[in-house]
Amino acid sequence: MIICHKKEDLRQVVDGLRRENQTIGFVPTMGALHDGHLSLIRKGLEENARMVVSIFVNPTQFDNTADLEKYPRSIESDLELLQIFSKDVIVYAPAADDIYGNSISSEHFNFNGLEDQMEGQFRKGHFDGVGTVVKRLFEIVQPDTAYFGKKDFQQFRIIQELIKKHHLPIKVVGVEIFRDKDGLALSSRNERLTKAQREAAPFIYKTLKTAKNRFGTESAKKVAEWVEKQFAEQDLLTLEYFTIADEASLQTIQRKTKTKSYRAFIAVYAGDIRLIDNIALN
Ligand code: PAJ
Repeated sequence: MIICHKKEDLRQVVDGLRRENQTIGFVPTMGALHDGHLSLIRKGLEENARMVVSIFVNPTQFDNTADLEKYPRSIESDLELLQIFSKDVIVYAPAADDIYGNSISSEHFNFNGLEDQMEGQFRKGHFDGVGTVVKRLFEIVQPDTAYFGKKDFQQFRIIQELIKKHHLPIKVVGVEIFRDKDGLALSSRNERLTKAQREAAPFIYKTLKTAKNRFGTESAKKVAEWVEKQFAEQDLLTLEYFTIADEASLQTIQRKTKTKSYRAFIAVYAGDIRLIDNIALN
């Protein structure tokens, strides 16, 4: 497996593959890899000769220094995990200056309002940070196709918008959410949950599934009130938001329309650990 720390080295490898007419897929990550990340790589390998996987904990997308400091970092075990893919995967694991030079700051983006909803409301500047790093990574890697998890559905929609706005010649594929047996969506942050918090966390997906059933006969507002009530009775989980939104605009719905696709989105705290999840409603 080839591991590059510098963009020039990565470019050289990718240019070589291009000369051989190989297709290149890309999965950007912040490391602490788990089966959710691997499912994106596997999906990519079904459609591309090689996959580039980046591992970079992007400082500009954290609105909270403590969250950035506590974000799990495990580059050694990440690389070990990726060895199963052998030469099919090329790793790009840069230091911050390879991406940002000597000024770690983000560009300001307008994603047609997608950035103002949900995560954008609760994590100020988050999507400017994501947009900045993903745009730079796209410039460096220049993949044919990039794979994003629907676990971060708002991020996936924003990347689609980024590509459209900047006319980037890259296809984006959204990959289904990978869950543990008990329904908890895999996340690098799950590592930090205590045993009791981990046991409580599947309640998030369980509630989303019931919310989906209720949405069949109830209004979005009624469903949201029911979800809020369920979380008020939880000791270890605190609801930050629950909302039912239109998949295209990500705006909270006012009235159901048969022609639109809806999704329920949730953010929950277990102690200081923030967990997000979502479910398709159609
Ligand atoms: P990270 O949280 O490491 O996630 C990398 C990719 O894996 C994202 O596309 C995310 O949606 C996907 N992913 C994470 N958990 C998943 C799960 N359980 N099922 C399916 N996909 C899952 O998202 C980021 O990093 C960063 O914001 C990044 C795009 C790398 C920019 O810094």
